Amino acid sequence: MVRVKMMAAAAMTGLLAVSALAGCGDKDAAGGSDDGKLVMGFSQVGAESGWRTANTNDIKAAAPAAGIELKFSDAQGKQENQISAIRGFITQKVDVIAFSPVVTSGWDAVLKEAKDADIPVILTDRAVDSQDTSLYKTFLGSDFVKEGKEAGDWLVKDSAGKTGPINVVELQGTTGAAPAIDRQKGFAEAIAANPNIKIVKSQTGDFKRADGKTVMEQFLQSTPKIDVLYAHNDDMGLGAIEAIEAAGKVPGKDIKIITVDAVKDGMTALAAGKINYIVECSPLLGTQLMELAKKVHAGESVEQRILTQETTFTQEQAKAALPDRKY
Ligand code: AHR
Repeated sequence: MVRVKMMAAAAMTGLLAVSALAGCGDKDAAGGSDDGKLVMGFSQVGAESGWRTANTNDIKAAAPAAGIELKFSDAQGKQENQISAIRGFITQKVDVIAFSPVVTSGWDAVLKEAKDADIPVILTDRAVDSQDTSLYKTFLGSDFVKEGKEAGDWLVKDSAGKTGPINVVELQGTTGAAPAIDRQKGFAEAIAANPNIKIVKSQTGDFKRADGKTVMEQFLQSTPKIDVLYAHNDDMGLGAIEAIEAAGKVPGKDIKIITVDAVKDGMTALAAGKINYIVECSPLLGTQLMELAKKVHAGESVEQRILTQETTFTQEQAKAALPDRKY
């Protein structure tokens, strides 16, 4: 009974949090906002990285530009907050729900509730592992396995002709999150081409700069020879650079560094020679997301998987790209 009451209270908190963040313009009984705009409920992972901030800013700018009313909810890295937010959106009868799932598993029940309420769901940035793909209309985002593979391919090329072991430490993203699972997988597949390259330590840094620094400090203390750091995002790589410098080593030289994202701070470190290679992951998903929302709301068919266009950067390419970098 107490548990039931606690769950009800938690659900209410979720609803209140969503409506507090939502702003005005509640949806009328027939659907749509009071002023006839399409209403999107969006549940964001949190604010763990520069990438996430850029993604949030882009979505918040794209909604009004597309004439869409956005109800935005920040889950602060917690799946239970996302589930509460989505339930809140269902209660508010929004027209479309979009979200970037913090982890891949555990979504079937709430997605089924959205489907039963006839509210289309769009996955953005990250995937879920639901077997029933009819629970969402489309998934817009990067190919994270490819990103990991590109990071590993660069290392294999850079290590060509070198003899002796190449010790890699890996800073993983949030445990259970699609980009952490897939970037680990893609990288491991690519380095299998060179038996000298070995991952000697691999631990989560939760996609956060501070955690990247702490975990790298531990790696440096416990591992006598580190040749390469592979960080699943720029922020963890940047935190690790602080730890490497504090240990009296030169990032980019004594320890080569490969990261993913290509946000401005990462690109600045790449151009300065502190990072060796960055695989881009674009956070600019807002405009495409709003177009998809209009289509699914209108009952038009959309591709089940929409891939983001991305590239990679060497140090020289970063120098050239930095002046025009938007995020
Ligand atoms: O899901 C995208 C990843 O999440 C980004 O690479 C990372 O920086 C973010 O936190």
